[in-house]
Amino acid sequence: MKKRVLFVCLGNICRSPAAEGVFRTYVEREGLADEIECASAGTSPYHIGEPADHRMQMHAEKRGYELDSIARAFNSKTDFDNFDFVIGMDDQNVWDLRAKARNDKDRKKIYKITDFAVDMDYDAVPDPYYGGATGFELALDILEDACDGLLQQLKEIP
Ligand code: 4NP
Repeated sequence: MKKRVLFVCLGNICRSPAAEGVFRTYVEREGLADEIECASAGTSPYHIGEPADHRMQMHAEKRGYELDSIARAFNSKTDFDNFDFVIGMDDQNVWDLRAKARNDKDRKKIYKITDFAVDMDYDAVPDPYYGGATGFELALDILEDACDGLLQQLKEIP
C-alpha cells in the first residue's frame, strides 16, 4: 500500500517545504515514487498561497533540491485521513498537531522529524525564519539526515 507522508511546520514556507523537497528527491532517487508520496502544510494560516521562502529555496537549490510547494494550512478534517505519517519539525508543531487530532488513530500518526535522525543529535529543526544563512544550512543538514532515516524506516514497512 502506498505510504503517504505530510511534513508540517508553522508557516509552511521554510522547514516543511524543505523537508518535502529533500524527501521527494531521496524517494525519486531510489525509484520509489510510486510507493511513497509526500506533501507539506503549516499549523498557521500566515503564509497561505505563498511559495517557499526565497532564502530557503536558494539554500536548497545549491544542494540540488527544488522547492515548488505552495503554502497551505494543515486541515485536521482531511489531512489525518489522507496521510499515514504527519511529521512536525519541532515540539510546538507536534503539540499543535496533537491539539488538532480527533482521536487516538490521528494521534498515532504524529511524529517529530528528528525521531528519524541517524547521525545528527538535534531534537528539533530550529526555525530559520528570523535568522541568517547558517540557520537555513543547519535546517537542511538536520533534514537531510532525518529524511534519510525516515526513508530507511519506510522501506522496512511492507
Ligand atoms: P516555517 O518558518 O515554520 O519553517 O515555515 C516560519 C515562517 C514564518 C513565520 C514563522 C516561521 N512567521 O512568523 O511568519
